[in-house]
Amino acid sequence: MKKLFGVIGDPIAHSMSPVMHNSAFAALGVDGYYHPFHIKPDDLADAIKGMKAIGVEGFNVTIPHKTAIIPLLDKVDPLAKAIGAVNTVVRENHQWVGYNTDGLGYVRALREEYPGTLEDQHVLVIGAGGAARAIFYTLASEGVKRITIANRTPEKAKVMVENCPYLVEGTVLSLTEAEETLGTYDVIIQTTSIGMAPQTEEIPIALHSLKSMAFVSDIIYNPLETKLLKEAKKQGAYTQNGLKMFVYQGALAFEKWTGFFPDVQKMEKIVLQQLGGKTC
Ligand code: ATR
Repeated sequence: MKKLFGVIGDPIAHSMSPVMHNSAFAALGVDGYYHPFHIKPDDLADAIKGMKAIGVEGFNVTIPHKTAIIPLLDKVDPLAKAIGAVNTVVRENHQWVGYNTDGLGYVRALREEYPGTLEDQHVLVIGAGGAARAIFYTLASEGVKRITIANRTPEKAKVMVENCPYLVEGTVLSLTEAEETLGTYDVIIQTTSIGMAPQTEEIPIALHSLKSMAFVSDIIYNPLETKLLKEAKKQGAYTQNGLKMFVYQGALAFEKWTGFFPDVQKMEKIVLQQLGGKTC
């Protein structure tokens, strides 16, 4: 009998995860099937119980359920607990165990393309929402010590830094202060929705004083090249979009469910094909 997996969210119709995971099942000869489940917030608790009852082996969690699901799970991994969000749930001994592979996926993708040693670098994270928290806490948990957070609402960034359970030198700035000090960062990580389609002409900070050889990374992958990345590239910076993060968070979830780490290049190709006409 096929092992059943899926993703829960609201909305869910445009999720790239089903095609990505189903292609990985086929490539690895795993008898599994991954389905998108449209779950409204009011139905979340029933859905989690129901999925256990019908034998679902594991699932991903996306907007708006990543935080709301935490009290409904049997166990939550410490990193996911610190981040306050779960994107991957695994059935372990008839219990639902929650993990967060967003930050781990991001950092894995970053390490793959970043030419230096991340631990020694001065990193700027733009944003202080759920995605920023996943990335900031994962970087801190992996020994990156100098991280500055810039946010439209600096108070939110302060709370994020204060609640970080890992040793880190976390400095908080406004977006204007980040622009003024831009020349001091080796790695810049953009985690807000600014620049995402259809608002593709927006940019979170001006890049006038970008350090030469800086690495600028944007977690957005639609469009594949945001205005921020275009500007950074013009100035000679290394750039990376969010496609690899998306693929790696999925690959890490897949590994938790099946024990196999899938071919990420193949997964990336499938997602790119799927994005097709939609990217600008
Ligand atoms: P996610 O979970 O996807 O990270 P989120 O938790 O809603 O989303 O966080 C969105 C982030 O984008 C926040 O850092 C937000 O800034 P505030 O904390 O000040 O709200 C930032 N953001 C969203 N729209 C923005 C805009 N137009 N200008 C500046 N920052 C913006």
